[in-house]
Amino acid sequence: MIRITFLMFLIGLLATPNAKAASSDYPLADAEVDLSDKAALYRGAQTFMGNCASCHSANMMRFSRIGEDLGLTDDQLAVLLPTQSHKPGDVIETNMPADYAKETFGIVPPDLTLTARVNGADWLYTYLVSFYEDPETLWGVNNAVFPLVSMPHVFAAQQGLKQPVYETTGEGEDARKKLVDLEPPARPGTMTEEAFEQKMKDLTAYMVYMSEPAALKRHQYGPYVLAFLFIFTLVMYLLKREYWRDIKH
Ligand code: HEC
Repeated sequence: MIRITFLMFLIGLLATPNAKAASSDYPLADAEVDLSDKAALYRGAQTFMGNCASCHSANMMRFSRIGEDLGLTDDQLAVLLPTQSHKPGDVIETNMPADYAKETFGIVPPDLTLTARVNGADWLYTYLVSFYEDPETLWGVNNAVFPLVSMPHVFAAQQGLKQPVYETTGEGEDARKKLVDLEPPARPGTMTEEAFEQKMKDLTAYMVYMSEPAALKRHQYGPYVLAFLFIFTLVMYLLKREYWRDIKH
């Protein structure tokens, strides 16, 4: 029995959608994803198209699907299309050539369709709000949950550059500095901290939706399924009463 429990524990560990989090023990913040808030998902989609799609594709997602799922009008959907020659039936592709990206960043920015599902919403949200100043890196920034990330801080102007608080462990050659906290930027960004965090929550919610669009439908169907089960149970109960009425016992 103990062995089975242990096995299940191990399987549970493997299935935890937090692969990246393992590389840093920085605490994750709560992304507070609410897939029923379609206005937030739409705001997130706009942020994604305006700030991420220049480098990242999301090539398992079609614009028309976003339009259907979020109940957008044609005009609202048109806002998401990168150019006028794009069609609603197109998938989200980046126009950055892969070899240019490789030369600039040392790595081709990964497709983001499934990222929220692979790494978990809290990891993704924490990643987006946890860039900090680090002059020793290529772009002058580092990330609390993705050490030495080669993505620049795309919202540096809005958020400002957070300041790292390090703790040094060990001595002499073994000395290591470890990031333990982030402090507010020395020079504030153009957005307040609350407004920026809300923007990143909306973006995270959109990316969670994008990683599993069917989840949106599942949430919508939930109440109907429950109502059906309730009515079905009632009918079955009445049927049972009807059948047993004639049987003497
Ligand atoms: C200027 C180009 C650029 C832009 C714009 C950009 N990224 Fe990135 N991003 C990268 C690169 C390069 C990497 C690869 C980093 C690495 O592996 O070190 C990356 C990695 C990531 C990762 C980690 C994925 C993983 O699992 O390895 C996430 C998540 C991510 N980006 C999200 C975003 C989001 C959301 C936006 C929009 C707000 C965005 N990025 C905008 C270049 C960009």
